[in-house]
Amino acid sequence: MLKVKKSTSIMITVLMILSLSLTAFANPAAFDRGISSRVDIDRMMDQLTYLTEDIGVRVASTPEEKEAAEWIADMFEKYGYTAEIQEFEYINRVAYLTVTEPEEVQIDVQIGGTRLEGHFAAAPLTSEEGITAKVVDCGFGHIDEFPAEVEGNIALIRRGQNTFANMLVRAEAAGASALLIQNNDWRIFKANVSGASIPYATMNDEAGELLRGEEEIMVNLKTLQYDTSQNVIATRKPNNKNRDTGNVVVYSAHYDTVPTAPGASDNGSGVVGMLELARILSSMPIDTEVRFLAAGAEEVGLVGSRYYVAQLSEDEIDRTIANYNMDMIGTAGEAQTTLFVNTLDGDNLVSRTAREAAERLGYSDLVRAPFHRGASDHVAFFEVGIDAANFIYRCPDTIALEPWYHQPLDTMDKISPERLQMAVEIIAAASYDVVRPATPNLIRSKIRKDTVKPADVQYQDNEMILKVPEM
Ligand code: BES
Ligand code: ZN
Repeated sequence: MLKVKKSTSIMITVLMILSLSLTAFANPAAFDRGISSRVDIDRMMDQLTYLTEDIGVRVASTPEEKEAAEWIADMFEKYGYTAEIQEFEYINRVAYLTVTEPEEVQIDVQIGGTRLEGHFAAAPLTSEEGITAKVVDCGFGHIDEFPAEVEGNIALIRRGQNTFANMLVRAEAAGASALLIQNNDWRIFKANVSGASIPYATMNDEAGELLRGEEEIMVNLKTLQYDTSQNVIATRKPNNKNRDTGNVVVYSAHYDTVPTAPGASDNGSGVVGMLELARILSSMPIDTEVRFLAAGAEEVGLVGSRYYVAQLSEDEIDRTIANYNMDMIGTAGEAQTTLFVNTLDGDNLVSRTAREAAERLGYSDLVRAPFHRGASDHVAFFEVGIDAANFIYRCPDTIALEPWYHQPLDTMDKISPERLQMAVEIIAAASYDVVRPATPNLIRSKIRKDTVKPADVQYQDNEMILKVPEM
C-alpha cells in the first residue's frame, strides 16, 4: 500500500511538472521571452561604436565600405557562420579633403560632378596622390574676385551670388587647379555641373570658414574613382533535415553611408541589430533557413539588395517567404518615437508578425504596422514578390526622420540604446515565430493564401495542425 501511494504521488508530481512546462511551452510568450531575453544591447553598442568611430563614413565602393564589409564578415564568422562576400560593379567617385598646413585636419566634402545613372561618373578626377596646393579666397566668384595667385592653386568660393557653372568657368579661366565651394546647407550640398575640367567639391559653411583663416592654408584634395561594392551574406540551414520547411527568411541591413555621415543611425543601427539576430539565431532551434544580408550601395539606389535578389534562382525566390529589413532602428531623435514597419503591399507576413510580436511583448504603442513606404532594401525583395518590410523609427505625427539624417552629425550620441533594444526584441520575436520549429505563423500565412478557413486549424501538443480541406 505504502509503495503504491509513494509511486502515485511521484506520478502526480511528474504530471504536474509536465503540465506546467507544457503550459509554458504552449504560451507563445515563452518563445518570445526565450529569444528576446538574449538581445545584448551592450554588445550592439560596442559594435556600433567600432563601425561608426573606428571605420566611420562608408560610401559605396570606397575602401572604407570594403573595410566595413570585412569587419561584418569577421563578426559572422565569429558567430559560427561562413560569410560570403558577394562583389558587384558599382562605379563611384568620391572626394577627400585634408588640410595639410598649418596643421592636419580632415574636412567633410562632397564631390562635384554630373550624375550619370545615379552616380558621379562624370566628376573630374585627380591622381591617387591628389592635388596639394594653397587655398585662395575668391569671394563669391565674381569676375573681379579672382586674385592672380589663384593660378596653380585651389580656389575657394562661397555659394549664393553666382551659379556653380559660372564659378567653375571662372576658376578654370583664372588657372585654378581645383575648386572648393562653400555651401551653407548640407541639404543642398551637391554641385552637379557638366563639362567641368577641374576637380571640384563642396563643403559646409563651418568648413569653408576654417579654410579662410589668416594664415596660409595648404590642402590636399583627392577625387577618386572606385569600381566595386559588395554584399556580405551568412546562412544557417535547419540542423534537423526532417524538420526543414524548405523556406528561407532573409534579415537585411545596409552598411554603406552617404558621404560625410558616419552613419550611426543610418544604418549602423540596422547592421548591429542584424548581427545580434545572427548571433542569437546561431544557436536556436529553427525549421526554416535563415540568411543575413549586409547590403552594400543602398544609399546610391538599393544597388546591393537588387543585385542580391537578381542572383537568386527562381526556386530560391519561391522559397524565400520573408525579408525583415532594418534601417534606422536606434535613433535618439526626440520626435522619432514610433517604430514604423514599412511595406509596399499592405499587410504582409512581416508586418503582421511584427505587430503580433509587439503586442505579445507589450510594445503595441511603439509600433505602426503596416505603413506604406519604400526607400530601403525591402523594396528589392518586394519587387520579386517576397513579403518584405523595413523597420524604422519616425515621428508618429509628421512621419519625419531625425534632424541629423544623412549628415555628419549622425554619430554615436544620437543613438538610443533603449529603442535599439526594443526594435531588435520585436524583430527577434516576430521572425522567430516564423523560423522556429512548428512555425505557427508560417502555417497561418499559408492558410490565408490558400483560403483555408481558420476553423481548419487545430493545436495539438503545441503543434499547429492544418487540416487540408477536401477537394
Ligand atoms: N535610411 C534611409 C531612409 C529611409 C527612409 C529608409 C524611409 C526607409 C524608409 C535610406 O537609407 C535612404 O536614405 N534612402 C533613400 C532612397 C534610396 C532609394 C537611395 C532616400 O530615402 O532618399
Ligand atoms: Zn538607410
